[in-house]
Amino acid sequence: MPIKILTEHIGNTPNLHQFSVYRAKGGYRAVEKALKSLTPDEVTEEVKKSGLRGRGGAGFPAGMKWSFLAKPEGVPRYLVCNADESEPGTFKDRYLMMNNPHALIEGMIVASYSLGARTSYIYVRGEMLYVIQILERAIAEAEANGFLGKNILGSDYSLNLYVHPGGGAYICGEETALLESLEGKRGNPRNKPPFPAVKGLYQCPTVVNNVETIAATSWIINNGGDEYAKIGVGKSTGTKLISASGHIRKPGVYEIELGVPVEEFIYSDEYCGGMWHADSRLKAVVAGGSSVPILPTQLILKTAQGEPRLMTYESLSDGGFVSGTMLGSGGFIAMDESACIVRNTWNFSRFYHHESCGQCSPCREGTGWLEKVLHRIEHGHGHSRDIDLLVDIAKKIEGKTICPLGEAAAWPVGSAIRHFRHEFEWHVSHPHEATRPNAVYRGAAAESVV
Ligand SMILES: Cc1cc2nc3c(=O)[nH]c(=O)nc-3n(C[C@H](O)[C@H](O)[C@H](O)COP(=O)(O)O)c2cc1C
Ligand code: SF4
Repeated sequence: MPIKILTEHIGNTPNLHQFSVYRAKGGYRAVEKALKSLTPDEVTEEVKKSGLRGRGGAGFPAGMKWSFLAKPEGVPRYLVCNADESEPGTFKDRYLMMNNPHALIEGMIVASYSLGARTSYIYVRGEMLYVIQILERAIAEAEANGFLGKNILGSDYSLNLYVHPGGGAYICGEETALLESLEGKRGNPRNKPPFPAVKGLYQCPTVVNNVETIAATSWIINNGGDEYAKIGVGKSTGTKLISASGHIRKPGVYEIELGVPVEEFIYSDEYCGGMWHADSRLKAVVAGGSSVPILPTQLILKTAQGEPRLMTYESLSDGGFVSGTMLGSGGFIAMDESACIVRNTWNFSRFYHHESCGQCSPCREGTGWLEKVLHRIEHGHGHSRDIDLLVDIAKKIEGKTICPLGEAAAWPVGSAIRHFRHEFEWHVSHPHEATRPNAVYRGAAAESVV
C-alpha cells in the first residue's frame, strides 16, 4: 500500500474535522514533541533533513527557506500560509483544509514555533468562504484545548493564528502580492529583493509556505526528517497531493509517493483509472497546473531519451522546456483527442490576461495580445504569420516582469505551439471547419519540434 501522510484518515474517519477525532487519531503529537523536547532550530533541522520542497509550485526546499529567515532582535517574525489556490487545475489545498483542517493548524503551530513567529496567518482564497468557516471553527477548538493562544501546553511559547480572506484575484497567490493584500492594500507583487525572509509582512521577516508544505511538517517532526527523506526518489522526497482532472475516469485528489510513473498515475485504478471512455486516447497533459508547459502523450509518458517519465520534480522537467514540463502545484489535467489545443490555449490566455495586475508592460500588454491573437485563430480569422507572432510575444514576456505570472502566461502558449503547431496551422488553413461547434483537429498526432 502506498504511504499516506496527509490523507491517511480522510474518507475513513467520520468527523475528522473535529478536534477530538483528530486528536484521537494521534493529532497534535507533533506540537507536544516540538514544544517539550525540541528547540526551534532542531525543528528546522528535521525539516531540512526531510528534503521537503515547497508544494506551492516552485519546489524550493522548505527547511532552507526557514533557515534564511532574518532574526533581528526585537523585530516580530511572521509565518503566512498561502491558501489562495487559484491556479486552474489545482484544487488540493481546499480538499485538505475542508477534510482535515487540524492537520494544517498543527503544522502552523510547529512551523511558527520553529520560526519564532507569535502571530501567524492563513490567507485563504476569498471565494472559499466555507473553508474559512471550517478553519475558524478548528482554530477555536485548538485554542480551547490549549494548543493555541498564551503559553501553549504550559510552555513559554504563545501563538495567535488568524484566517484572512483573500482579495479575489489569482495574483494574490504570488507571495509578495499576498503580503500586500494581507496588509490591506491592492494585491500587487513587490519588486525583489528584498525577499520576504528579510522584509515581508509589515516589513518584518516572513516565511510564506503553501498549505501542503506546512501540513507535511507534523509527520516529519513525529517520525524524523530522515524517515521522510526515505519516501520518494532523489531530491523529490515524500508524498505529494495531485489534483487530477480532465478526460480521466476518476478525477479527484490523490496523495502519491513522489516517483510514481506518469503512466501508472494515469492508467492504474489506484489513481486516475485510465481515460474516461473505453475508446478515448490520451492526447496531451498539463502536469502541474495551467502555467506549466503542455506535453503530448509521447513526451509525458516517456522522456525524449525514452526513459519512463516519473511524477518527480526532476523527471517531469527532464528535457527542459524543449521536451519537458514541471510538477508545479500538482494540477494534473489530462486531455483526450476530443480536446482542441488551440481553444484550450486561448482559454488559458484569457485567464492570464484577466489576472495580470498590470504593473509591468510586457505582462499587461503581452497577455492582452496573446489572448487577442489566439482568439482570432480560434475564431477563423487567423493568418499563418500569427503563429510566429504568438511565439514572439511569449518570448518578449518571459524573464522581463516583476513576478512569474508573465512566464505563467507565456509558457502554455510557447509549448502548445512547439508540440501542436499543426493544430494551429489547421485552424488557419481550414477556418470554416475549425469554427464549427466542438470542432477538433483530427489529423496526424503531435510531432513535437524537439
Ligand atoms: C501568480 C502566482 C500565483 C500563485 N499562487 C499560489 C497559490 O495559490 N498557492 C501557493 O502556495 N503558491 C502560489 N504561488 C507561489 C507563491 O508565490 C510561493 O512561491 C509559495 O506560496 C511558497 O510556498 P512553498 O515554498 O511552500 O511552495 C503563486 C505564484 C504566482 C506567481
Ligand atoms: S508580471 Fe504581470 S502580474 Fe506580475 S507584477 Fe507584472 S504585470 Fe503584475
